Amino acid sequence: MTGKEIYDAASVLAEVTGKGAYLNIALKKATGRGAHMLVYGVMEKYCLLNRIADELCDKIKNNLRPYMLVGLYCVVNKVAPFAVINKAVSDALTYGGKGAVKGFFTAVLTKADRAEYSLPAPGKKGYDEVRFNLPSWLVGMYKKEFPDSYAEIIDNSEKHRVHIVACCSEEEIRAADPYAEKTQTGYFVKNGETIGKLFEQGKATYMSLGSTLVCEAAGEVKGKKVLDCCAAPGGKSIYLAKKGGKVTSCDVYPHRLRLIEAYAKRMNTVVTVREQDATKKNSDFLSAFDTVLCDVPCSGFGVIDKKRDIVINRTYDDIIALSELQSEIINNCCDYVVKGGVLVYSTCTVFSLENERVVEKFLSGHKEFTLEEEHRYLPDGKGMEGFYVCRMRKN
Ligand SMILES: C[S@@+](CC[C@H](N)C(=O)[O-])C[C@H]1O[C@@H](n2cnc3c(N)ncnc32)[C@H](O)[C@@H]1O
Repeated sequence: MTGKEIYDAASVLAEVTGKGAYLNIALKKATGRGAHMLVYGVMEKYCLLNRIADELCDKIKNNLRPYMLVGLYCVVNKVAPFAVINKAVSDALTYGGKGAVKGFFTAVLTKADRAEYSLPAPGKKGYDEVRFNLPSWLVGMYKKEFPDSYAEIIDNSEKHRVHIVACCSEEEIRAADPYAEKTQTGYFVKNGETIGKLFEQGKATYMSLGSTLVCEAAGEVKGKKVLDCCAAPGGKSIYLAKKGGKVTSCDVYPHRLRLIEAYAKRMNTVVTVREQDATKKNSDFLSAFDTVLCDVPCSGFGVIDKKRDIVINRTYDDIIALSELQSEIINNCCDYVVKGGVLVYSTCTVFSLENERVVEKFLSGHKEFTLEEEHRYLPDGKGMEGFYVCRMRKN
């Protein structure tokens, strides 16, 4: 751990927490492995470190907080002897043109090193934030929705397993990972590198178990015309195309359409890609599809571990805005379903505001649709992520 690494880590944190940047994009500015480890370390204990910073510093300016969080992370986790950490933090502040506050940092970090702070006890204000490493409004949402099981659900949302879908023999999968564990639709494998070669050859791809079950909920698609309204990066489109659907994949962001094209090419399959805002009517699409999938943009709280940056920056108002967008999309895209056809609505979140409430409202205004199947899956800690899917049929 060097001053430069701390400086880089603090700069990445400033982008993510101050400017709402995505972590994976902000991290590109930090070249060293050390800086990446520091950023991930701070993210894992974000609420705890902020709590300690608030207790030990009377007031800390926003532009200094990222440095403080990295310094506190190093001290609390004893990543090096205190003198080494203190020197590296001082060097980082000099790099950042903030050398004048070195003394203040040394005083605070010394207190942290001596554990001169207290943490909230269970039931006290601030406890939930530190316990779950989530903002209090979000813990409040989990508590409201799952009063008896919120702790288990949040803890399970942190546990993630790598799931793959195979387009090759079981022998080939077993050769890559002898311990691959079969699921309804694919395999859990050891880690992301396990199927590297098969991935490059388009013989296997990473796709969460939940995502595959959303596609399965669509029923038989062989030979049918399928519209994926919010398709990028393309996982579900490609899965449905592999099952024999004639898939049209739309997304509102042109650069994300390129991801679908690349995905389809790697997986040796064909989908028709089209730029299309799912809230805007396309007269060419009216009653033109046997199956319409609305895998809508959502808060993504079916799994948390990969998305700490999103958790930090998301607000309750975002969830309300998302639920409005989701209603707009389903209300618009339902007109693309042919009579007798299927409309699938799905999210990768567990909150009913974005799931059941959206569908109830939709069905009450669209008597021509009947609900055939509805499932809310909760993260189970064994590889199942939280998500929601329902299938409706147009009468
Ligand atoms: C949950 S993701 C879809 C994931 C995708 N179905 C898959 O399995 O790979 C939601 C997608 O909706 C897109 N999106 C957001 N607003 C949209 C809109 N108004 N119209 C169409 N697509 C939109 C986003 O760009 C994002 O790619």
